[in-house]
Amino acid sequence: MARELVLMDRIAKSYGRVRALDGVTFRVFPNEIVGLLGDNGAGKSTLIKILSGAVRPTSGDISIRGEKVDIRSTRDAIRNGIETIYQDSALVPQLSITRNLFLGREPIRGPRFLNRMDHEAMETVARDLLRRVGITKNIPPSTPIGSLSGGERQAVAIARAMHFHSDLIILDEPTNNLGVAETQGVLRFVRNARDTGHSCIFIAHNIHHVFQVVDRIVVMRQGRVVADDIDPRTTTVEKVEEVITGMSDHELRAAIERPGAVDPVPALAGHEGA
Ligand SMILES: Nc1ncnc2c1ncn2[C@@H]1O[C@H](COP(=O)(O)OP(=O)(O)OP(=O)(O)O)[C@@H](O)[C@H]1O
Ligand SMILES: [Mg+2]
Repeated sequence: MARELVLMDRIAKSYGRVRALDGVTFRVFPNEIVGLLGDNGAGKSTLIKILSGAVRPTSGDISIRGEKVDIRSTRDAIRNGIETIYQDSALVPQLSITRNLFLGREPIRGPRFLNRMDHEAMETVARDLLRRVGITKNIPPSTPIGSLSGGERQAVAIARAMHFHSDLIILDEPTNNLGVAETQGVLRFVRNARDTGHSCIFIAHNIHHVFQVVDRIVVMRQGRVVADDIDPRTTTVEKVEEVITGMSDHELRAAIERPGAVDPVPALAGHEGA
């Protein structure tokens, strides 16, 4: 089996008495698009926040390319090639598109100690990036982020991940509140990510979107991974929905007593009598 890009091993996270994550093992391989699904509160965001340095796990280990890492901040995550895009991503509304693209990584012009940013170089790159992420409207890169639509902001965050060659791009509900065209843009980006050598973790409540772009689906339920190898090409949206909601023992028994009433899903196949 190919060496994984990311291995999150037996990750647990508690908030007081709430066990948000209960021993989750999660892998992402190079050039792989993973769909992370689960009902509200399943633990998806908590898991990826741990990977992106926003949340510290209670226990468990993270390895990147086989090396154990300690991710304590977004900066640590970025240094390890991990970029996360949230619906209202880590963009600064008051700053321009260009400044947001380079935030903290601005090219310097002239002697280093003068710390003068190379605005011309940044604008050129920004223009090119906006085109590549599908913003065809002529929006000047000097426009403040605050005056862009949700989808356009999303595109800027995606452009940033592309430009800095992140190995892993995490998208948590990136299509929430987006228009049809903008949503298609995000989906296209995820699909292209594989071809340009990136891996992706894609979280979305719209299973149809997930089916359109991912190589493998992982399902979480109540802080645990209940299925980690679902191939969207060989299963149906309905079956995955069943894995997400989970059948109670009672429902399962009812299904067995009335064969054909409910189709037991692969993740539950180990259940006695199934
Ligand atoms: N900062 C926090 N303090 C206390 N509890 C939290 C905190 N963050 C998350 N939780 C709890 O942890 C559990 C998992 O939450 P998480 O946000 O990871 O779920 P999710 O799968 O992303 O859900 P959704 O699909 O609704 O975004 C929930 O029960 C949630 O209430
Ligand atoms: Mg979430």
